[in-house]
Amino acid sequence: GKGAYPYYMIKEIDEQPAVLRRLIQTYQDQNGQFVVDDNLKAALQNSDRLYIVACGTSYHAGWVGKNLFEKQINIPTEIHLASEFAYNPPLMSEKPFFIFLSQSGETADSRQALVLVNQLGHPSLTITNVKGSTLSREATYTLLLHAGPEIAVASTKAYTAQITVMAILAAAVGQTQQHGLDLAHELSIAATNMETILAEKDQIKAWVDENLLETPNAFYIGRFLDYYVSMEAALKLKEISYIQTEAFASGELKHGTIALIEEGTPVIAIISQAKVDKHTRGNLEEVKARGAKTCVIATQDFAQPGDQFVLPKTHALLTPLVIAVMVQLIAYYTSLGKGLDVDKPRNLAKSVTVE
Ligand code: F6R
Repeated sequence: GKGAYPYYMIKEIDEQPAVLRRLIQTYQDQNGQFVVDDNLKAALQNSDRLYIVACGTSYHAGWVGKNLFEKQINIPTEIHLASEFAYNPPLMSEKPFFIFLSQSGETADSRQALVLVNQLGHPSLTITNVKGSTLSREATYTLLLHAGPEIAVASTKAYTAQITVMAILAAAVGQTQQHGLDLAHELSIAATNMETILAEKDQIKAWVDENLLETPNAFYIGRFLDYYVSMEAALKLKEISYIQTEAFASGELKHGTIALIEEGTPVIAIISQAKVDKHTRGNLEEVKARGAKTCVIATQDFAQPGDQFVLPKTHALLTPLVIAVMVQLIAYYTSLGKGLDVDKPRNLAKSVTVE
């Protein structure tokens, strides 16, 4: 049950540091090395291209995973929406390896794609929260999220667990080529940083109450990983608050979207990555000049005076883990503040078993 919590969503948001720590322990051997099944490891090492296939929040986690695989194990990685893949599969490489991300393991769109992959005889891995689920049974390999049941329709802990498991998988596969990254250490810092954000719920709620409860629309902007987590931030906010929220790669604003900015439109910028931080700030100035009500969520190393939320420093590859908690709380308090049913948003089901 949800115990003293008013909603499952906030309970599940709160559980994330514990899930992260559980994953570190579960996937480490006695020597503190991350390990996965030898055959799975060999299959990935033998592949010339990874194809991540997923829907919704899991798809957004996939973008973060793509960066981890490309940076940590040097395998080009494509990311596909399951509903697109199943009926219009991409041109495949010689030795493709498929990674299905699915909290429930039952999503029909993803299953359709897996059926096709199996018909073609390619190896696959399902990363899921549900042991024995359809996608886990039908894939060649399975890794579990160990996140405990996720009851709220809006996915939270599954997203951060998926990113964590992909980081662990990349570390386990690429042990010889890790660029000096002590992943267990960096993940445990991320868990602590999540706790810091969870301890600041009141400030987040106060900001939401003042800025988001009346708006019909809102934007998240960022570049690179900050864009990827923006996509998830926007989905979370729109699905439980019914505010039309879109995420934009901030460089794209000037190519069209900036036309939507009016006096008072909330624009939330996420800034946690070197090289793109200044550019996102520049884009933020452009929307501010057109009347946007701006908000900055920055990690400590990129923060500037006046930023609304400064998050603790986290390893550059892992900042989405920590920023996710922040944007989940923004969505949660918006839904709560509007008096909506946080756990059961209209028109949605927890597991989408129709195509
Ligand atoms: C959003 C949400 C959905 C799911 C999507 C895929 O909060 O929960 O977007 O992420 O339906 O579900 P799974 O991961 O179970 O395949």
